[in-house]
Amino acid sequence: MTKQIATNITWHEGEVSREEREKNLGQKGATVWFTGLSASGKSTIAVALEQVLTQQGFHVYRLDGDNVRMGMNKNLGFSAEDRAENIRRIGEVSKLFADAGMICLSSFISPYIADRDQARKIHEEAGLPFIEAYVDCSLAEAEKRDPKGLYKKARAGEIKGFTGIDDPYEAPENAELCIKTDELSLQDSVKAVLVYLEEQGILATESATA
Ligand code: ADX
Repeated sequence: MTKQIATNITWHEGEVSREEREKNLGQKGATVWFTGLSASGKSTIAVALEQVLTQQGFHVYRLDGDNVRMGMNKNLGFSAEDRAENIRRIGEVSKLFADAGMICLSSFISPYIADRDQARKIHEEAGLPFIEAYVDCSLAEAEKRDPKGLYKKARAGEIKGFTGIDDPYEAPENAELCIKTDELSLQDSVKAVLVYLEEQGILATESATA
């Protein structure tokens, strides 16, 4: 748990409720959190899902590990502490997007259960859906894909602490979704998330369907 450092601060309530925002948007805010090995397919699924949902008129925003590490998190590396801080910040940002009424698609290796659970907790405390989607791909398959050549470098000792090679990945035990990208096509992977979002009523508010 990150310590609250600032003192003498007071929460300032707005005059617009989340329900009002969601009514205007015709959807419910939520975070879909994709976790899995590098090259497991997290970002590929998120990109395709973002496109489908946007074409259907939904409001979606995507947060991606590599991208966020070029901006807000450019001061973080890959030690366990830095990965924890990476996920803490993204968990907070995802929560803000979800509170704004957006469907936030967050794709991060997020290798530690405790860090993912913390992101879940802050959503749940705020009454926001947190959908953990385990992008389950074997290390052998991820290494075969190796789109950025990083596994090759890690095997050669040119990258230290690479997830799955010489750094841990703690698989989810109770994820809402498990997407086996060893077996499923991209289309079926996207569909699995879409079906879940529909089942959970995230794709339409009562007022929008009335
Ligand atoms: S996380 O572990 O903190 O969640 P994040 O998803 O932000 O990681 O970033 C992972 C991406 O950083 C990988 O897809 C890969 O492109 C790159 N990367 C560079 N070094 C490492 C490393 N040591 N371990 C894992 N990924 C790395």
